[in-house]
Amino acid sequence: MKKRVYSGIRATGRLHLGNYLGAVKGMLALQDEYDCIFSVVDSHTITVPYDPKTLKQSVREIILDYLAAGLDPKKCHLEIQSMVPQHIELSYYLATIYPVSRLEDLPTYKDKKAQYPKYVNMGLLYYPVLMAADVLLYKGELVPVGIDQEPHLEVMREIARKFNGMFGQTFPEPQRFKTEGEYVPSLAGGGKMSKSVEGSYITLTDDLETIRKRLAAAPTDSGQIGGELPKEGGVANLFKLLKLLKLDVEYKKFEQDYRDKKIRYTELKEVLAKAIYEELQPFQEKRKIFKEDPKLVDDIIDEGNRKCLQMADRTMGEVKKKMGLI
Ligand code: TYM
Repeated sequence: MKKRVYSGIRATGRLHLGNYLGAVKGMLALQDEYDCIFSVVDSHTITVPYDPKTLKQSVREIILDYLAAGLDPKKCHLEIQSMVPQHIELSYYLATIYPVSRLEDLPTYKDKKAQYPKYVNMGLLYYPVLMAADVLLYKGELVPVGIDQEPHLEVMREIARKFNGMFGQTFPEPQRFKTEGEYVPSLAGGGKMSKSVEGSYITLTDDLETIRKRLAAAPTDSGQIGGELPKEGGVANLFKLLKLLKLDVEYKKFEQDYRDKKIRYTELKEVLAKAIYEELQPFQEKRKIFKEDPKLVDDIIDEGNRKCLQMADRTMGEVKKKMGLI
């Protein structure tokens, strides 16, 4: 039996370089060898303020991004989370065995509470339990996600262990599949690239001019500092991006320029802009082709959901039996 892989992305806007290098590259690396399910997790999307009028379109855009990035429906199943209601069903059963106090302590919950103080809903607290259900529903063993998701993976393993202990061996303990881009830094100076921080990201559909503009706004220093490269902040982040894009020769050159206090950030940013655009161009061309064929995309989604529903049913039967519900 091939190992099962599961990952998902929320429909909160176009994918950015962080999503791509941190998660999608991992999905691409695994789809040839493993039994993979990749989802647009719309039920997770609605835990923060969102627009119901545009949600369906946003979900569709992520599916197009997946296909354009090279996720191949012949090799993996593409799923829309809310189309497989067993995610919610399993999450409720798992919630009955997990302590509230542990959920209240999670950094992601605290961050969201701080970000949306008027929108602290039950779904937000419940988020990691639903995420555990996403993966455990398919008995997923490997989860390609960025490093920010590690606390959620820990919850997943705790829930799996607890369930197995109470009701008998049922679930594997999922592990994160680590990618080189597991932490893509923000363009805005500190922290990680994030959809919710304006000025921090480059989306996969940006053209060269937009990429240049976004990089131009990224903070640096006066270029007169010299010595060792800083470990954090705007300059460190630009160097990290050079590394992630495998621009090793350029990295060394700019590092030397930095030491010699003659670095020109406009030059570094132009090198980065061109390399990013080059990486994104094939994606953008492929995306257009899928966008122009809505019937093909509908069929891919229907087939993915159909297969996932069958797999989900099997797990739910087993879970309900073990819990004494049937
Ligand atoms: P989401 O939608 O916030 O992000 C999607 C994926 O992109 C990764 N990511 C990054 N990786 C590296 N550097 C960054 N700057 C960066 N920003 C985002 C995230 O780590 C993630 O892999 N909780 C998940 C969605 C989810 C899920 C699941 C994932 C729900 N159920 C089950 C895996 C399995 C989330 O919010 O991702």
